[in-house]
Amino acid sequence: MSDTPTARPASDLPRYDVAVLGGGVAGLSIAWRAARAGLSVAVVDPAPGTGATHASAGMLAPVSEVTYTEEPLLRLGLASLAAWPGFRAELEEDSGVAIDHRADGTIEVAGSADDMAVLDELGAFETALGLRVERLTGRECRALEPMLAPSVRGGLLARDDAWVNPRLVVRALLTALSRAGGAVVLDRAVAITPSGGGDLRVRRESGEEIHAGRVVVAAGARSPELLDGLPGAPDTPVRPVKGQILRLRGPRGFLTRCVRGLVHGTPVYLVPRGDGEITLGATAEELGFDQRVTAGGVYGLLRDARELVPGVTELELTETTVGFRPGTPDNLPLIGPAGPPGVVAATGHHRAGVLLAPITAETVVALLTGAPVPEVARSCDPGRFLP
Ligand code: GLY
Repeated sequence: MSDTPTARPASDLPRYDVAVLGGGVAGLSIAWRAARAGLSVAVVDPAPGTGATHASAGMLAPVSEVTYTEEPLLRLGLASLAAWPGFRAELEEDSGVAIDHRADGTIEVAGSADDMAVLDELGAFETALGLRVERLTGRECRALEPMLAPSVRGGLLARDDAWVNPRLVVRALLTALSRAGGAVVLDRAVAITPSGGGDLRVRRESGEEIHAGRVVVAAGARSPELLDGLPGAPDTPVRPVKGQILRLRGPRGFLTRCVRGLVHGTPVYLVPRGDGEITLGATAEELGFDQRVTAGGVYGLLRDARELVPGVTELELTETTVGFRPGTPDNLPLIGPAGPPGVVAATGHHRAGVLLAPITAETVVALLTGAPVPEVARSCDPGRFLP
């Protein structure tokens, strides 16, 4: 960390207990909960809620997104899923904004016998982990979701999965944060530097600075730009994983649950909203910060979705979006002290940023206030990547 030669005295700068760099679902959740805990908070972001959160489908789906060898992530996801109803109730109450939280489960379906064999193995794994999943025949799948194709071979029902509209969550968080006295600074943070008395300064793209007791880096896939080079912070192992995602508009009730499917081995999901929107995702591409929506990406998503739900081709295509999941080598987030004293990372949430918002906020606010960190979040300590 090196100070800038032109820096103003710290006493002239706006000072907060906490500066949160990044206004996606993680940063805004942390800021709101910290403000509720009585801390003075500023979120620094040029356009809050327009990054990965804007693209995301908002699935709260630790059961149907479970992956072999990722049991710490599953435990974290289940803890956060359990926290969501309380988080949602307080968020809706503090903001007056309804976030379209639905807890009707996910139906995972297979388009071929091979895909069904993969799903059966997954179902056995989920059951062995103590998760609640039910094996369904093709007919039972269609009884639950009549828009499913006659060719669907069967599936699994994960009743405990839920989902929210992430854009409404952002709107609610911004309102709740403001009502709790938190500030939003519409600028990009570009550097963290030392200040007097153990405090930190955050330099902004505009050249202005703010002064904070603690700095939380919650800038998703852009977090390495702020953390790398700080003393005690080795290169941050967070990379962008590009996702292309579509939004369609159909009649309300077109689907009533989240539908996930495997089509010739490729995963696809459809997430229905109360207003008739269907979010259809998503590609997963290791292409750095490639912003392009590609013909192949859109074609592949629609082709695979049509195999499972033929009626999607009748819906209006209202939006194509690219987002960048902040991926890590073990797919677990980095939540905890990172680099010099006072800096906390809250990044690397990969495919589960919305799901993990409550547990992330609880963990970071515990670190900020000296409360015990939830046991389940100890696996997220960024120190696991220290040499
Ligand atoms: N959690 C869904 C995705 O990342 O595409």
